[in-house]
Amino acid sequence: MKENTGILSDMCKKYPLTDKGPVKADGTPGHNYTETYESNFHDLRDKDLKLLEIGFGGGDSLKLWAEYFKNAEIYCIDNNLSRIGEYGYIDDPRIKIFYGDQSRPESLESACELMGVKQFDIIIDDGSHIEDHILKTFHTLFEKYLSPGGIYFVEDFLNTISFESESISEITYKEELTTIKKINK
Ligand SMILES: C[S@@+](CC[C@H](N)C(=O)[O-])C[C@H]1O[C@@H](n2cnc3c(N)ncnc32)[C@H](O)[C@@H]1O
Repeated sequence: MKENTGILSDMCKKYPLTDKGPVKADGTPGHNYTETYESNFHDLRDKDLKLLEIGFGGGDSLKLWAEYFKNAEIYCIDNNLSRIGEYGYIDDPRIKIFYGDQSRPESLESACELMGVKQFDIIIDDGSHIEDHILKTFHTLFEKYLSPGGIYFVEDFLNTISFESESISEITYKEELTTIKKINK
């Protein structure tokens, strides 16, 4: 794995609606998850991969991923598509947004069916951050929709959740309440 180069953190300056970088839109510190992402994603940048993120927010993380992964298809599931209008149309044919409610496994499955994607290489859960939803989403997507060797991330959860997986590596940041969990398949 190559060293963290800070590219993703720098790119976040263009996409201030996401809190994944070191600084948020209002100038306060962000989660700085981009450091962890960079160290995991650096070698994958040019690959023709499929990334799924749960949680549209303001759409900036999707734009960030599309810029970082030049050859990737970026998919998003959110249960509130009205926000897409609020933040403007994302004019990038590689970004595809679908309705889905992560509290209901069948809704996640229907969204994946509609996407027509059998497996994703990277899945990021940055949705409701409700523990029950996180677990339902993990159990729905990890086995069936994450490709062999794929990586699954959960953002912003309290450090109380246990996943039924042998290969969990956990990175805890200094922030009091939020952590990012990485699980390799
Ligand atoms: C923190 S924002 C996502 C931020 C975005 N990923 C970023 O980094 O810019 C959380 C999103 O999760 C969505 N959400 C909340 N509950 C959800 C649910 N049950 N199913 C799917 N999406 C949900 C919200 O509508 C919101 O768009």
